[in-house]
Amino acid sequence: MVGNKINRVVLVGTGAVGCSYAYAMINQGIAEELVLVDVNAAKAEGEAMDLNHGVPFAPSPTKVWSGSYKECKDADLVVITAGLPQKPGETRLDLVDKNAKIFKTIVREIMDSGFDGIFLIASNPVDILTYVTWKESGLPKERVLGSGTTLDTARLRYMVGEYLEVDTRNVHAAIIGEHGDTEFAVWSQASIGIESLDKVIERRNNPEDRAKLDEIFVNVRDAAYHIIERKGATYYAIGMALARVTKAILGNENSILTVSSLLEGQYGQEDLYIGVPAVVNRGGVREVIEIDLNEEEKAKFNHSAKVLKELIAKVYS
Ligand code: NAI
Ligand code: 2OP
Repeated sequence: MVGNKINRVVLVGTGAVGCSYAYAMINQGIAEELVLVDVNAAKAEGEAMDLNHGVPFAPSPTKVWSGSYKECKDADLVVITAGLPQKPGETRLDLVDKNAKIFKTIVREIMDSGFDGIFLIASNPVDILTYVTWKESGLPKERVLGSGTTLDTARLRYMVGEYLEVDTRNVHAAIIGEHGDTEFAVWSQASIGIESLDKVIERRNNPEDRAKLDEIFVNVRDAAYHIIERKGATYYAIGMALARVTKAILGNENSILTVSSLLEGQYGQEDLYIGVPAVVNRGGVREVIEIDLNEEEKAKFNHSAKVLKELIAKVYS
C-alpha cells in the first residue's frame, strides 16, 4: 500500500508466465489487489480460485479475482503476458506478427477502460511488443516498459555466481540489448562485490576463466532454447523477474533494472525499446542509464538495435 491507496495490478494472460508471476506476487505480498484477465475466462477464473486458496500462507493478504478489462480503470499497473509462446526451434522474433496483432486489440481494450497507470510487458518479442504498447496506448514513455533483459541478467548473475562460487547477489553484471539472439553481456563493466571482474580474473590467475565466461554467456543467450527443448516453456524465473520489477514500481524503489525502455538518443539510438539499465520507480522508468561500452560492445548494441528497428518497421509498414 502506498499511503492509503490500495495497489491494484491487472494481469492480462493467465498462462504459464502469467500464473508464475501471480504466484510470485502473492508469495511476496507485493500488491493488495490482483485481477486476472484472459481470453479464456474459465482459465482465469480457475487460476484465481486456486491462487486464493494459498493466500492464508502468504506474508500479507492479496485479493485475487478474475475480471475484465473494465477493471483496468483503477489499476496502478497492467502486466501483459498474453499471446503465443515459442515452439521448439522458433525464435522470439518469429512470434511478432501474431502477437503484435493480439497486442493492438488488448491495448485498445485496456485504454478504453480509462486506464491511466503503467504498463509492464513480458510477451515476446518483448522489445517490439513494448514499443507497440507505447504507440497504441499513447501513454508517456516513462509509463510503458518491458521485462527487457531482466531475466537474461538474472541468468548471467546466477551462472557467474556458480562459476566463481560467490553469492549470485554479489555478481553485478548485465545483459543488454534485444531480449533474444542479439543480446550481449557488458563484461567491461562487470564487478564481483566491489571489485571489477577484470581484477578478479587477474587475481585468480586461472587461464580458463575468459573462455568459461564466454561459454557462460552463450548458455545465458540460449537458455530459453535449452529449457523449451526440455520442458516446452520457461516461466518460473520470468514470473519472479516481473514480480521484482513490480516491487520496484509499486514500492517506488528507484531500482536499477535492465528493463526495455524507450531510447531517445541514448546509446546513439532513438524511437526504439530495448533492454538497458534504467532507474525504475512509482512513475515507471525515471531515467535510462547510459553506461560506457567498449568498441566491441557498442557494435553489438548497434547490431541488436538494427535487428529490432527492422522488425518495428515491418509491424508499422
Ligand atoms: P501460454 O500459452 O501458457 O499463455 C498465454 C496466455 O495468453 C493463455 O492463457 C491465452 O489464453 C492468453 N491469451 C492469448 N490471446 C489472448 C488475448 N487476445 N487476450 C487475452 N489473453 C490471451 O504462454 P506463456 O508460456 O505464458 O508465454 C506467454 C508469453 O510470454 C509468450 O509470448 C512468451 O514468449 C513470453 N515469455 C517472455 C519471457 C520474457 O523474458 N519476456 C520469458 C518467457 C516467456
Ligand atoms: C525466455 O527467455 C522464452 O523469452 C523467454 O525464457
